[in-house]
Amino acid sequence: MALRDLTLGFIGGGQMAEALIRGLLKSKATSADKIIVSEPFETRQKYLSGEFPGLKAVFDNCGLVRESDFIILAVKPQIMKDVLKEISLAIDPARHLVLSIAAGIPLAFLEAFLPEKTRVIRVMPNTAALVLASISVFTGGRYTTPEDLALAEEFLKAFGDCLLLPEIYFDAVTGLSGSGPAFVAAFIEALTDGGVKAGLPRPVAERLALETVLGTAKLFRETGKNPYEVKGMVTSPGGTTICGLKALAERAFAGSVMEAVEAATNRSAELTKKVLKEVSS
Ligand SMILES: NC(=O)c1ccc[n+]([C@@H]2O[C@H](COP(=O)([O-])OP(=O)(O)OC[C@H]3O[C@@H](n4cnc5c(N)ncnc54)[C@H](OP(=O)(O)O)[C@@H]3O)[C@@H](O)[C@H]2O)c1
Repeated sequence: MALRDLTLGFIGGGQMAEALIRGLLKSKATSADKIIVSEPFETRQKYLSGEFPGLKAVFDNCGLVRESDFIILAVKPQIMKDVLKEISLAIDPARHLVLSIAAGIPLAFLEAFLPEKTRVIRVMPNTAALVLASISVFTGGRYTTPEDLALAEEFLKAFGDCLLLPEIYFDAVTGLSGSGPAFVAAFIEALTDGGVKAGLPRPVAERLALETVLGTAKLFRETGKNPYEVKGMVTSPGGTTICGLKALAERAFAGSVMEAVEAATNRSAELTKKVLKEVSS
């Protein structure tokens, strides 16, 4: 079965849901008349049905579930428990596949508040989903089938790329690709400030910093070169770049970035533990 054979029900019509819908329609993975969104704000409903003609926007989460085959949970993590309890009355484990994009909500939490044997998939996307360039990681629950995972992959590829990984990696994934856009933003900002300090007008420095990061990432991806090889390409003996790299090494740049990923990973693990306590209490 392909995604276009199913009715997709988005619970929560916020930023992420909008980005995912845009990706699904742009890639022609489905059509707007196969999408329903439940959303408490009427103005937001009107915006979504205006933006994507054919899409149906509703208030009632259980009504949406009854009309859909593939449910996408796109609400904030704080209200996930209430939403799960509410929709569990309408979920049919034999029919519905449930996919959650909520950060820090583990499979055990989703399964605990949904009917026994519900097939669930947990996804960690990143902000780049807004421009259809997310790297998303996904994992299946106790009852998901290979067909469910294939559907999830088709869904996730509509707004970027994806990787199937065991759930034990999710805290580290959150620390790297989840929080990563903020770390990259900090680097772009610092690069820009460096350019300004060296005498460039700010708008010029901003453009150069952004395109340098984008172009370098593209170079890695399109040539398959690793960072060490790219460093070799731009570092001539006794030249300018090696002096800059020495300054980075003296200020422990690599260690700082590694610690940033580690700190974000640890915080994710802490939050996950807290969420899981709710399942056992
Ligand atoms: N944004 C990111 O970069 C990113 C990255 C990774 C993961 N995520 C995950 O994606 C999920 C959605 O994030 P977002 O940025 O799209 O948040 P958002 O823009 O706040 O979207 C959540 C939407 O759900 C609606 N909602 C609230 N209560 C509801 C209910 N009971 N039933 C149905 N809909 C309800 C909200 O409406 P109101 O505004 O009226 O409350 C809002 O429109 C989150 O769980 C987040 O962890 C986001």
